Amino acid sequence: MKDKNIVITGGNAGIGFETAKELARMGANVYIVGRDKTKVESAVQQIISETGNKSVKYFIANMSSQKSIRQLAEQIKKELPKVDVLINNAGGVFPKFQLSEDGLEMCIATNHFAYFLLTNLLLDLIKKSDYARIINVASGSHYRGKIDFESFTRDKGHFILTAYEQSKLANVLFTFELAERLKGTNVTVNCLHPGMVKTDIGIKDTQWYSKLFWTLISQIAGISVKDGAKTSIYLASSDKVKGVRGKYFDKCAIKEPVPLANDKNLQKQLWDFTEKHIVN
Ligand SMILES: NC(=O)c1ccc[n+]([C@@H]2O[C@H](COP(=O)([O-])OP(=O)(O)OC[C@H]3O[C@@H](n4cnc5c(N)ncnc54)[C@H](OP(=O)(O)O)[C@@H]3O)[C@@H](O)[C@H]2O)c1
Repeated sequence: MKDKNIVITGGNAGIGFETAKELARMGANVYIVGRDKTKVESAVQQIISETGNKSVKYFIANMSSQKSIRQLAEQIKKELPKVDVLINNAGGVFPKFQLSEDGLEMCIATNHFAYFLLTNLLLDLIKKSDYARIINVASGSHYRGKIDFESFTRDKGHFILTAYEQSKLANVLFTFELAERLKGTNVTVNCLHPGMVKTDIGIKDTQWYSKLFWTLISQIAGISVKDGAKTSIYLASSDKVKGVRGKYFDKCAIKEPVPLANDKNLQKQLWDFTEKHIVN
């Protein structure tokens, strides 16, 4: 992976951190995106000291803010001549209904709109690479997802899991629509389920019973963060996926997503709705 520029959002913790570390170990230039300077700097230092690769840097951005994402894209464009791999990974769960500064429900804003906006803003830079891979970290939760466009902007009885499942189905729909739009270019885009992974995702900003639920279920049924990063690392680095596009992966293998994810009308509707709600 030497000389490859890899940008990974949410690279300071959990699956993103492990992915960034292993890609750094392979010799890539790794650019972590995170929202908290202290946490991000400490993650970068840890990766450098564990891998010996000094080419690990960071950008600060809040992925629930379109303004911040735009500033991030500008910084990346100034600093990098090309992006070889973009890994959209930052995400979370949101127990309460809350609007982002752009008037979007926080879960869909962070987990879907950020993937959409950053990818589109960096597309020209990605096209400059002859490697050109976009990887969207989705989830097996998408199998239970439904898209309710009204819930993107108003509270229709917010529930933590329903909002998360919807946002992760949006990741798969977005991946498939983007793959279609990128036909005839050098860019590939795929998405993945990392597995149920023992990270802190379910205990950040959640109520005590959600924390308890996540801690119990992830400790009993969850896999290690090292294993949870394997499919992201595979999609970023393996020759076996060269030229493969528009697929959903689980355990480093192509898997059939929920049938709804293949609905071409829904893919296009989501694209159009998202585009309309991007603040200029
Ligand atoms: N863990 C699982 O079982 C599981 C299963 C399926 C899919 N996934 C997906 O895997 C991805 C990574 O999740 P994880 O389990 O590794 O969670 P995690 O340990 O909580 O890590 C999430 C990362 O995203 C960052 N992030 C969240 N919101 C952000 C924002 N507004 N701006 C900037 N950065 C933000 C976090 O930053 P902070 O450190 O500042 O919070 C952190 O670096 C997510 O897309 C998630 O949906 C996870």
